[in-house]
Order: sequence, then C-alpha cells, then structure tokens
Amino acid sequence: MRVIRKSNYEEASMACAELIASQIRLKPDCKIGLATGSTPIGTYKDLVDMYKAGSLDFSKVTSANLDEYRGLGGDHDQSYRYFMNTNLFDHVNIDKSKTFVPDGLEADAVKACTDYDAILESLGHLDIQLLGIGGDGHIGFNEPADDFCVNTQCIDLEEQTIQDNARLFFGGDLAAVPTQAYTMGIGYIMKSETVILMATGAGKKGIVEKAFCGPVTPRVPASILQLHPNVVVIGDEAAISDAVVAKAK
Ligand code: GLP
Repeated sequence: MRVIRKSNYEEASMACAELIASQIRLKPDCKIGLATGSTPIGTYKDLVDMYKAGSLDFSKVTSANLDEYRGLGGDHDQSYRYFMNTNLFDHVNIDKSKTFVPDGLEADAVKACTDYDAILESLGHLDIQLLGIGGDGHIGFNEPADDFCVNTQCIDLEEQTIQDNARLFFGGDLAAVPTQAYTMGIGYIMKSETVILMATGAGKKGIVEKAFCGPVTPRVPASILQLHPNVVVIGDEAAISDAVVAKAK
C-alpha cells in the first residue's frame, strides 16, 4: 500500500491525475475504472487540462464506471453517465463507445447486472481503478453487508448515502435521490492491476482510518483494499491520518 498525502484538495487531485496520465502515456490503450462523486472532480479537470495542453491522448482508452442509479438515464443531470460526460468525456478525445456505465434505465435488475458483468468480462481486468469512499466505507455503491459482493449487484442505498448524496447533489432534495443503484462488484474492483482510492476533507478521516487500519470486514467494504497488492491512497492532510501513513509499505 502506498499513501500520497498532500496538503490540500488541489494537490491531491493533481497527484491522482498524474498517476492516471502516466498510465495512459505508458499504455495508450489502457482500461481505466472511473468513479463519480465530488472527490474526483478536480482530477478530471486536471486530466482535461492535460488533454487541452496536448500532453494526453484518450483516443485508445477504454473506461468502465463503477455504478449508476437505477431509474436514471444518461440524459438525467444527476445520472453518473451525465456526470462523466460533463466532467470528462465531453472535453477529451475519448471514444464514447468505449466508455461503459451500468444501464440505469434497465428496469430488470438481474439483466442490468448480468449485462454489465458481461461487458466487464469482455474487458478483462482493468489497469487502474479509481475509487472514492462513502461515509460508511462503501466503494462504488457496495454498501456495508454480511459478505463482500463479487459481481455487479443492485443495491438498496443506505440512509447515510442517500443523505450524503442529497447534500452534495440533487439540489439537496432528499426525496429526489434514487434509493437503488447498480454497482460493479468488489470482485471486479479487486482484479484491477492498481487501485487508487482518493479521499479528501475532514469528513473522510475517520472512515479512511477504519478502512485501512481496522479489521478487513464487509461492514466496511473499503477495508478489503488492505488485501490488494497494489493500492494507492491519495488524499489531503484533512482526510489522511498519521496512522494511515504509517500503514504504507
Ligand atoms: C457515491 C459514489 C461513490 C463515491 C461516494 C463518495 O456514493 N457511488 O463512488 O465514492 O459517492 O462521494 P464523494 O466523493 O462526493 O464524497
């Protein structure tokens, strides 16, 4: 486990963007797992700036996103497809037909999950998976559970997640947040060659410490990353405690 602790959000975002950019430069046809939420917005902006400056080429990159709200289509401004388009895909030369997000409009949950698993299977493993972390330790939308879920699943969102997401998105309207989502399973996340977990802000400090210094348990889904051979935790001083830095090997 590597830990990169920067003094603020901007520096942490750039460190994360540099890791992703290095991967793309090293292997132009790489496969990257992408995350949504407020945390990676700065990183996406930095990647767009690198592209505009002519130092990054997305033309051969394939991407797979972690999750999507069940019931929201790509045109809905709170869908994760829309988020990816507006924060990254619309501003770089990525081939959108090679950007994958679970189909939120597929009402048949079993089909939505098996379809996404078939796509992931066809990609093989990812080179890099970018993750944020939820207040309850979720990764993607894999909420605390009795077991680590291997495959794509339809999840009932926890109250805390619904509230967090209403606070940051959906114009603060709790009732507008969908209660279910389709999420890539933890099995596929763990198959990625490298996993980057980014966390910033004081609100994440406790859960990041629990995830990386506490026991590995499906009650804190991100804790499974302790078992990943190549995980990089990137954050700012507010989110990354000394105990997490001390865990770096
Ligand atoms: C959502 C996403 C997660 C993300 C989390 C944290 O639940 N499904 O992938 O990590 O939010 O979001 P934020 O970065 O806004 O704190």
